Amino acid sequence: MTLKPDVRGFFDPATATWTYVVWSSGHEDRRCAIIDSVLDYDMHSGRHSTASADAVIDFVKARGLEVEWILETHIHADHLTAAHYLRAKLGGKIAISRHILAVLETWAPVFQSAEDTPLDGSQFDVLFEDDQQFTIGPMTAKMIHTPGHTPADTSYIVGDAVFVGDAMFLPDVGSGRCDFPGGNAGDSYDSGQKLLALPPETRMYVGHDYPPGPRREPQCMATVSEQRAGNLRFHQGVTRERFIEAREAADAGKGVPELILPSLQVNLRTGQFGKDINGVQFVRLPVDKL
Ligand SMILES: [Fe+2]
Repeated sequence: MTLKPDVRGFFDPATATWTYVVWSSGHEDRRCAIIDSVLDYDMHSGRHSTASADAVIDFVKARGLEVEWILETHIHADHLTAAHYLRAKLGGKIAISRHILAVLETWAPVFQSAEDTPLDGSQFDVLFEDDQQFTIGPMTAKMIHTPGHTPADTSYIVGDAVFVGDAMFLPDVGSGRCDFPGGNAGDSYDSGQKLLALPPETRMYVGHDYPPGPRREPQCMATVSEQRAGNLRFHQGVTRERFIEAREAADAGKGVPELILPSLQVNLRTGQFGKDINGVQFVRLPVDKL
């Protein structure tokens, strides 16, 4: 029997990020997954806080859930992950795609962080193979490789839901940028086709929402059929060539996300600030490397 997962989204207005808790309320098995968590960080002061993650923890405890997985769709460049903090508080296994080994190889030299950032990915509990199936309590789940935004982007299919990270956004927003190292607009198009080939009623949960106008509140879900009909970039009839052209034009000259430097180095360590010097932790800001 395929169980229909329950999904609760938590929106972080500072980074426009959606964090999800996924579980099955129709079952006595209370195991759940947390997807794409947020560790709050202020660039100017260097202060971090766990307010966003604590809201997720409160929810998990209030529902009597047991964290089995802490999943990442990719190494985020615009916010820090709270995966490490959540695992310390709630348990669970931190998992990501095996393709992040290539991302580690790209970025660890930029930060000169090999000392506290293992290049073999052993800081993660599980590195998923492409199309690997797993379970979240009583629910069947599967990862699919959906590169383009980064070379390691993963989408997680859980029952009739799919968590796509930045591979696709809500219809009126489109899709994630493809101009980071290893990003590729052609790959993004191909990944989008994989997602749009899912059953039309599939609930697609996005990793961010950037409401295009003041009148629309942040939302987190559209069905595959809604995406097929109206996604700004992926709607029916868009050829691969036109998609690439439009994506590259949109990305040209774009500034980097404010938190890109802290995010990448911390997220490659599952959300840890790394080795301290006399009890003080640091964020490295490499010069002329982006
Ligand atoms: Fe991203």
